[in-house]
Amino acid sequence: MLVNTKELLLNAKNGKYAIPHFNINNLEWAKYILEECNKLNVPVILGVSEGACKYMGGFNVIYKMVTGLIEDLNINIPVSLHLDHGSSFESCKAAIDAGFTSVMIDASRYELPTNIKLTKEVVEYAHSKNVTVEAEVGHIGGTEDNITNTSTNATLEDCEVLYKNTDIDSLAPALGSVHGFYKGEANLDFETMQKINASLPIPLVLHGGTGIPAEKISYAISCGIAKININTELQATWAKAVKNFLETNEDAIDPRKIIGSGEEALKNKIAELVSLFKTKI
Ligand code: 13P
Repeated sequence: MLVNTKELLLNAKNGKYAIPHFNINNLEWAKYILEECNKLNVPVILGVSEGACKYMGGFNVIYKMVTGLIEDLNINIPVSLHLDHGSSFESCKAAIDAGFTSVMIDASRYELPTNIKLTKEVVEYAHSKNVTVEAEVGHIGGTEDNITNTSTNATLEDCEVLYKNTDIDSLAPALGSVHGFYKGEANLDFETMQKINASLPIPLVLHGGTGIPAEKISYAISCGIAKININTELQATWAKAVKNFLETNEDAIDPRKIIGSGEEALKNKIAELVSLFKTKI
């Protein structure tokens, strides 16, 4: 069943666990994630970046693919279809109009007043369609679509001002995490995370979940993190398994076998992360 993230994330915040957000890249990834989360009986957020959306053909393709998989595979868990790092009102609107149940408007490259204006515009449209909205304050840098490399940490004051002026459903404050692999250890500002959590009633989102040690993930969840975004770790896990397969099966040409050779490793990684996040239905 496709749902927005409102209840999922509020339940997670109150229950002190996190919902996994896994980025999808193609049919197989969506299928493997849905099958594994259904087997584990945990809700999941399928995140789609604008680049991945272009790669797969567009928002309508993705909506129809995901709803088709849910129907044909008898997926019974709550699933949210989420635009990751939407860069404009037009992009968020296109995702919503295609049937996405959740969007992130990432206006973090702008100064706060412009971030607020754009986020508010998206919230007004999204809420009129029962779609939930995540926003970003500060800037989470790294190596992903539409993401500039350098990070700027969020301040409590900016988070409070953005929340009060926009009515967002969840917030991703930049507090030291980055997209992609970390150079050295992830240095998260838990003090500010706790203050934001104490001040705002909405769930918090941790981007750049790859490579954050288990104890920091658990601590972040205790500080109000209710959604954790993972992309790079799944890619690296899948790629390693496929490379191993190709090294020992040089004659392999069937794309189903080549792509599918990463299935088990990907599913095992998903199960490991879900257990770390203590995700519940
Ligand atoms: P990682 O690629 O570091 O896991 O981050 C994913 C993410 O935050 C997607 O928005």
